[in-house]
Amino acid sequence: MSMYNETVIDHFTNPRNVGDMENPDGEGTYGSPVCGDMMKIMIRVDENDVITDAKFKTFGCGSAIASSSVATDMIIGKTIDEALEVTNKQVLEELGGLPAIKIHCSVLADHAIKSAIYDYAQKHGKTYKGLEGFDPKADEDDTDHGCDMEGPALPEHFKDL
Ligand code: FES
Repeated sequence: MSMYNETVIDHFTNPRNVGDMENPDGEGTYGSPVCGDMMKIMIRVDENDVITDAKFKTFGCGSAIASSSVATDMIIGKTIDEALEVTNKQVLEELGGLPAIKIHCSVLADHAIKSAIYDYAQKHGKTYKGLEGFDPKADEDDTDHGCDMEGPALPEHFKDL
């Protein structure tokens, strides 16, 4: 029996919102300090501060893909303030859970989305309460993932993703 539930497998095999976006209003990249995998999120935001589209690209595992698929689905149609209120726990709930050793993979999506919103805010001279204290370069992943795996060297081409 698989360690993943049907929702996770569905979002991994048929990910929503994967791909590129031309001239996004905000984009953010985050590399997991746990495993070295990387995630890039791009967002489109309208004049009412509503996220009308979100796309992701990943150099990461199936759990990261499923988490990003669900997380991007969850923020499309929300205002920036509402999107900033989406927690990693809610993403995990929407997925129906992940194995403990894979929880850190969902953090990738959460942090990359916040980084994309941070980029949007910087470019448009905006401030959001939900971004207070957020540092896109900070190592936020203090999840006890129960894994002592060394992160692999990042591929040279990732910066082109
Ligand atoms: Fe690296 Fe899942 S994101 S193991």
